[in-house]
Order: sequence, then structure tokens, then C-alpha cells
Amino acid sequence: MPRKILVTSALPYANGPLHLGHLLESIQTDIWVRFQNLRGHQCAYLCADDAHGTAIMLTAEKLGITPEEQIARVKAEHERDLAGFLINFDNYYSTHSDECRHYSEEIYRRLDANGHIERRDIQQLFDPEKELFLADRYIKGSCPKCKAEDQYGDNCEACGATYTPADLINPRSAISGATPVEKTSTHYFFKLAEFEGLLRDWTRSDALQPQIANKLSEWLDAGLHSWDISRDAPYFGFEIPGAPGKYFYVWLDAPIGYMASCANWCEREGLNFNDYWGKDSTAELYHFIGKDIINFHGLFWPAMLDSAGFRQPTAIYAHGFLTVNGKKMSKSRGTFIKAETYLKHLPAQYLRYYFAAKLSGAVDDIDLNLEDFTKRVNSDLIGKLINIASRSAKFVHKGNNGRLSAELHKPELWQQVVAASEGIAEHFERRDYGKAVREIMALADATNEYFDASEPWKLAKEDGGAIQAAAVASQCLNCFRALSTYLAPVLPELAEQVASFFNAPLDWSGPIEPLLDHPIENFKAMMSRVDPDKVQAMVDDSSDTSAAAAPQPAAKQGKKAGDEPALGETIEFPDFAKVDLRAALIVKAEHVEGADKLLQLTLSLGELGEKQVFAGIKSAYAPEQLVGKLTVMVANLAPRKMRFGVSEGMVLAAGPGGKEIFLLSPDNGAQPGMKIQ
Ligand code: MSP
Ligand code: ZN
Repeated sequence: MPRKILVTSALPYANGPLHLGHLLESIQTDIWVRFQNLRGHQCAYLCADDAHGTAIMLTAEKLGITPEEQIARVKAEHERDLAGFLINFDNYYSTHSDECRHYSEEIYRRLDANGHIERRDIQQLFDPEKELFLADRYIKGSCPKCKAEDQYGDNCEACGATYTPADLINPRSAISGATPVEKTSTHYFFKLAEFEGLLRDWTRSDALQPQIANKLSEWLDAGLHSWDISRDAPYFGFEIPGAPGKYFYVWLDAPIGYMASCANWCEREGLNFNDYWGKDSTAELYHFIGKDIINFHGLFWPAMLDSAGFRQPTAIYAHGFLTVNGKKMSKSRGTFIKAETYLKHLPAQYLRYYFAAKLSGAVDDIDLNLEDFTKRVNSDLIGKLINIASRSAKFVHKGNNGRLSAELHKPELWQQVVAASEGIAEHFERRDYGKAVREIMALADATNEYFDASEPWKLAKEDGGAIQAAAVASQCLNCFRALSTYLAPVLPELAEQVASFFNAPLDWSGPIEPLLDHPIENFKAMMSRVDPDKVQAMVDDSSDTSAAAAPQPAAKQGKKAGDEPALGETIEFPDFAKVDLRAALIVKAEHVEGADKLLQLTLSLGELGEKQVFAGIKSAYAPEQLVGKLTVMVANLAPRKMRFGVSEGMVLAAGPGGKEIFLLSPDNGAQPGMKIQ
């Protein structure tokens, strides 16, 4: 009976580009889904962008676009990159969708009706300038212990102390620079403690890896607290029904995004949502996630599902974190590699293979060692696997008219290869891809040894020996085809090439049958060696600050945006020469209704006329300080439509932000419109 399976990977934030850490997860998941389908099961792979939260709102504001524009842009980039890595989704959706709103409201109403929501006033730091409650990571100040400056609100990077934002010396808002004030607000909480029994049972079931079950038990033993599920306006998300100005915290609707993606897919495919999420669903449901988000999936999510009357996940599969060359990914080392950058230099299948070779189904971190990557791909894929086909094909063409022999020559090898099928399948099923890959490569070694020992090149020269040589080669090619079938979930492009080379689809839904007396095509190179120069080029390409333009969720890297000063990408002189810098007189400066950062400037270029520019300098300058001053502007920037109007240039400024933005002004005596050299 084919199994009916639904698989998800965690929803990437719509706040920046994907990097190879994200890809570790998508690749792990995609391999598993492809494996299930190849084995004849009905396995669907759903994902979405996680589109809500303060960070996304602030990023959009910084870019001068709406959050909707920001999430649409990022979603298109995510989908492009994931397709580039051959990740085969049945649906890729967004949490900012009607379906997600529907299920978020519905689930919330059920939790509330069941008495699982409580309302409570809490004190929180508030940015009086931005009129925004500040999460810990948006508060900076000096460490109360070692006095190091510029530390975030939860812990000190200099001495490692942990504290609450209120303990910071001289705290200020990381957004506006203003001194935060304490303010009271009503928050909504999900009463997690009421689910202790359910969660204890869950940790004892086999739905969780042992490391995860232990972690959850620790949390349970420490006692469960109610979970704050509301945030005050301004917030980009869904407003809580019956609570104007209160929004669902992004992590409330994020896992509901799995349901939303499913509902959207069911609608399109004519399937029934309840077959997957209803209490009596017979489908299997798996969430692939990283180890940093276990609490959300292991505690809150099962409890929410239970209260709202939905089924439980069959299992949660957590993986570890990706390091590169043994260290956390880092921009200055060039190891913070974006998905897009990798694909510019190297084929996706290499990384899929390398990750597969390293993954074990445990929660351990995985290291991408770039030297090992090059060696491993070259020696395994090119030197062992493809080598079998490239050296065998010609003997079949010469000795048997391009047909595989009608009988296998000494079929022990073939039997060994097919006998491994179920064991290898079991490794894939348990996500121990590393073991599967090692067995497959051992069989590739055995095949090459058989080829060498049988010496078909000698046989071919003997009288009537060509047919013998073809028989040896035919067995090798059949083994190659079986091994490629086992690797098809990892190397889907290779699998297609192999299928066309053999004029037969690859099938692993039952025992693999040999192709006998069967025509094959001419052998064409299927993969090329990894060129170490390309790996280096990728690293060089990753060592710029371009990632600063698209901020990363800082916590994941243990790095905070902007802490690694580095120079930008170099440009050639002709590019620089295109920039028309002019002295400009600020004739008018006005607040922009609804914009927190922008001032609208009217700049005079003397005889060249006037330009309107929106500049994000409100935190540093009041309009009246600016009128009558000279500044420097980029006068030939193409006009850009922003949320509040068209901006026809840019003014030049320097500084870290907040109150410290310094508009550049030309030397005394400059005339408006004068070219700045
Ligand atoms: N939006 C949340 C997930 C919501 S799921 C209902 C989130 N997004 S994320 O973009 O930060 O991370 C997405 C996934 O990528 C997570 O499972 C996370 O663990 C994983 N990874 C992010 N960086 C990673 C590495 N460096 N290494 C491995 N996985 C990493 O969390
Ligand atoms: Zn400190």
C-alpha cells in the first residue's frame, strides 16, 4: 500500500536571502521526499515564506517599500534559489495569505473558547520616538557587568553575561537611538502548562529523536510557562480577532503556514484538507527543522494542534547547524555563502551529494569543508561512479552493437548490488544518508574492481573476445544503473541523464531488474570535476558586504548586522565616472506623513533646476536645521517611486545611523549645481 505522506521544512524568513545553512535543510528534506516518491509512495513537500514580524517591517521601511513589496520580492528570490538547488516543492506559499489568516483566526478562537488563552498586563521597554515596543534585540547599551559598550539587550558579547534589557547601562533603542521608557500593555498568552500531560506522552513516543526528547523533558521538568502570543501595533502580521491594535506574534502563525500551504495545494489539486489535518487523518505528517526552533515545534505546536482539534505530527526531524571550514559562517572569511552565490559558480548536485554524504539523521552540526568537498565530489562521483559508465560503454558499442548483453557475465556482482537495495532504502528512510552513500560507493568500488579484474580491454583484443568484453561491460553498466537509482533522490539530474542513456526510466518501487539485450545510447560526459578555482571564486564572491544590504536574522549567525566592517564590492572607474555628484542647496525640508525615517527635501541645483529627494535622515536632523544648507547629491540617479512619492536623487551622508548621520556638505563657496570632483 502506498503511504500518504506530507512533509514540510521550516519556513524561511522573508527578510533576506537564503544561505547554505538553509539549503542544508531543504536538501535534506528534498532527498527524503524524492526517496519516498521513488519508492512508490505519495509524498508531498510543502513550504512557504515566513512573512510576518517586526524585522520584516523594519527592513521594508529601510528600503522605502511596503512590507508586501518586500515579501513578494524575497519570495521570488527564495523560489528561484530553491529551484536552482533542484528542490522540488509541491507548493511554496506564504504566511501572509488568506488561508493562513483563516486558520490562525480559527485556531485562536478555538484556543480561546477552550479557556487556553489568558490576558495579562506586562511592562515592556518602549521606543518613544518610533512609538514601538522593543524586543530585546532592539535594545542596546553598556553591559552591566563589564561595561562593554554597544551590547544587545539579552547578553554581552564581550564577557558573556546574560541579563534583561532593563539592566543595561544607558539603554537606547537600536532603531531610533532614543532612550526607551517602560510602558504597560495587555498581552495575550497561551496557557502551555495545561498541556504538560500531552507533552510528556509526546516525549515518550517515538516521534522525536532521542536528543530532542531529552531537551523537551528538561523544559518540562523546569516547568512550562504561558507563551506570549501577542504583539502591539505597529506590527506586520494578522490582527487578533476582537483585539484591535494587537497582532499575532509571528511564531503563532508561522507553523500555521504549513496548514495554509496545504490548504492552498489541496484547493489546486482537488484534495481534501481534513485528510491531512483532521483528527482521524491516516496520512503521515513530518516537519523537518533546525535545532534552534525545537521549542516551537516540540512544545507550542503540538499543544496548539491539540487544543484546536487537529491531528499531531507523526514526527519532528531536527538537524544540526551548518559550519564552513569548521567555523560559523562568516562574511569576513568569505564563508557566509548565499545560495545565489554558490549557484553562480558551482552546480547544485555537488552540494546535494556532499550534504548527503555528511548527514546522519542525528542533530549534530554538519561541516562543509571546502577542500574536502572538492576531493570528495571528484573522487566519489567522477572517479568512482561516472567512471564505471565512461569506461564500460565503448565495449558494449564495439562488441555488441550498442546492446547490453542478453545474459550477465558472472552475475555475483549484480546480485550483490541488488541485495543491498533494502538496506540502503532503510538508511534513506531513517535519514542516515551518509550510510546510504557509503554503501553505494563501496558497491561502486566493487564494480570498478570487477571491471579491472576482468580486463575487458584485453578480452576485446582476443579472437571472438569482443562479445565477452561487452558482457563484462554490460554487467558494470547494469550495476551503474542500479547505483544511480539509489542515488536518484540525491542527484536528480544525473538520474535523468542515466535514464536517457539507458532508454529506460529508473524505478525503485520494487526489486531492481537488470536490462538485458537492451539498446543503450552513446556515452556523453554526465558531470565534470570540481574546479578548485571555482570554489575559490565563490569564496571571494562571498567576502563582500553585499549581504549587509539584505539583513540576516542576526541570531542565527550569532552575529549582529554591521559588526564586521568590510569594504564593498569594487567597481571600475567608468562605473564611478557615471555618478554625477553636485552641490545642492536645501531650499525646503519637510516631514513626510506616515514615514518614521524620511524627510522630503527640495534641492536646488541652481540653473539646473530643482529635485525632490526622500532621505532617511529624520533621526538626525530636524527640517529647520537643514534649510539653507549646502549638501552633496547624486544628481543623475534614475527617479525611483517610493511609498510616499518619487525620489529624484540621493543625498550623501555618513555615520552609523540614529542620531549620528552626518550630511556631507561641500567646501564653502560652492555654488548649487557645481560638479563635485
Ligand atoms: N521562520 C522561522 C521558521 C518558521 S517554521 C514554522 C525560521 N526561519 S529561518 O529562515 O531563520 O530558518 C529557517 C530554517 O533554516 C530553520 O529550520 C533553521 O534552523 C534553518 N537554518 C538557518 N540557518 C542555518 C544554518 N546555519 N544551518 C542549518 N540550518 C539553518 O527559523
Ligand atoms: Zn559584559
